[in-house]
Amino acid sequence: DIFGPARKNSQGVATDIESEWQPFQDSVVPFMGEYQWQAGPIVNGQRLKGDTHEITAPYDRNESVGHVDWATAEQVNNALDIAAQAYPTWRDTEVSQRGKYLLDLADKLEANLGELVAICHREAGKTIHDSIDEVREAVDFLRYYPEQAKALQTEPLAYQGFDGQAQSVTYQGRGVFTCISPWNFPLAIFLGQVGAALVAGNTVVAKPAEQTSIIAYRAIELLLDTGIPAGVIQLLPGSGPVVGAPLTEDTRIAGVAFTGSTPTAQRITRTLAERDADPVPVIAETGGQNAMLVDSTALPEQVVRDVLRSAFASAGQRCSALRVLYIQEDIADRVIGLIKGAMAELSVGRPERLSTDVGPVIDQTAKDKLLAHIEQMKRSGKLVTQVPLSEDCDKGTFVPPTAFEIRSIDQLSEEHFGPILHIVRYRADALDKVIDDINQTGFGLTMGVHSRNETTCAHIEHRARVGNCYVNRDQVGAVVGVQPFGGRGLSGTGPKAGGPHYLYRFTQASVNVQQV
Ligand code: SER
Repeated sequence: DIFGPARKNSQGVATDIESEWQPFQDSVVPFMGEYQWQAGPIVNGQRLKGDTHEITAPYDRNESVGHVDWATAEQVNNALDIAAQAYPTWRDTEVSQRGKYLLDLADKLEANLGELVAICHREAGKTIHDSIDEVREAVDFLRYYPEQAKALQTEPLAYQGFDGQAQSVTYQGRGVFTCISPWNFPLAIFLGQVGAALVAGNTVVAKPAEQTSIIAYRAIELLLDTGIPAGVIQLLPGSGPVVGAPLTEDTRIAGVAFTGSTPTAQRITRTLAERDADPVPVIAETGGQNAMLVDSTALPEQVVRDVLRSAFASAGQRCSALRVLYIQEDIADRVIGLIKGAMAELSVGRPERLSTDVGPVIDQTAKDKLLAHIEQMKRSGKLVTQVPLSEDCDKGTFVPPTAFEIRSIDQLSEEHFGPILHIVRYRADALDKVIDDINQTGFGLTMGVHSRNETTCAHIEHRARVGNCYVNRDQVGAVVGVQPFGGRGLSGTGPKAGGPHYLYRFTQASVNVQQV
């Protein structure tokens, strides 16, 4: 059995144990400083040239990380042809063989952890813990989906009909799948989509985010090193108009996996609907306006720890991140005081330092938008606290972690994707109104609840319209195979990534009924 013993989640690196930390550090250092990467389209296994763009580090905009060539319209067209031609053979390849390529890639990611972590620091501005977690999550997806594909596709599901008929259901790949991935999980979500699509029997055309194409490029190089047929995976870095649009307009596309903003997901859905071709599935993971509810029975110290991680880990750039914290008014002064104190301890700075809690945001556009929101909130809300930035932050795109008190979630007309926390005080008798206000945003990704009252927890869980509800803990960092992740409403279509039903959407079922 190529799948070996039961799958375990990747263990990462214990940064507080010298014998693990030192070799890890030694493996990262050669890729820091002056080291440069060159990336670009990979079509049918060929590295191609296109329009060249320089990539600079989010923590220091004078530091060049390398260059990425963006795909041309002609390359996109060729990639679609090649992916379409490769599909029938790949669909009919044994599921265990398709899975083996992903399992080999998982091993290669672990073997190249140092380089991948360095790319996470330098291209995406991710801290050490976030970078290690990024690679771990990618490895977990690559080991989890083959297991799921094996369960789904090795043997047809067989049923005995009531009149003696034999009936079976088989699941096959759908065709060419477009995978469009975000910069905030540039390896994990990128490979989660690509891995799921491939192992289910689809060929893939993948467009990584403009900001983070280097790590996607290295991942596809490593995937090709496994010996996977080159026609099954095409990498197309580039812009929305030149690459993203044809990958959703084209009639050769049999499905789209997209993670990114809600408006882009809506646009993709419209584009697919207008094609003169088969209706095809869209798997969209989008934004959130995630809240946490804290009632007067909660343990304040635990709340503070979980609020800080939920709101400020990854510089608030997780779709699961906490945006609006509701605190029951009886304990609000105390909890807000503790949050202020804890925020003052946050270390904001260069991501490759172990002491850093909050790194930069992804780019200047993101920084400008977040700072504009902070300015607007200073006028309309009440500033609770703002962490001052050190000189260390002058060269990069840093945003100071900031907390405001506001009246209600409806003061926020959109998601603010960064280290900004909004706090609302609520009265115990207004709990249902609070939950309704949160539901009213239309988003439904994560929710946090802190309460020692089981009835309250159950009531909130029942009334809230969210994909993932976390009780008495933080609300980020869903674990593959254990905490399937994904939202509803404006937050996405489901099925949940890292869960047992994800692969169904990448397949089509055939039923065979036989009279015996
Ligand atoms: N899957 C991530 C988390 O749970 C969010 O994108 O934090």
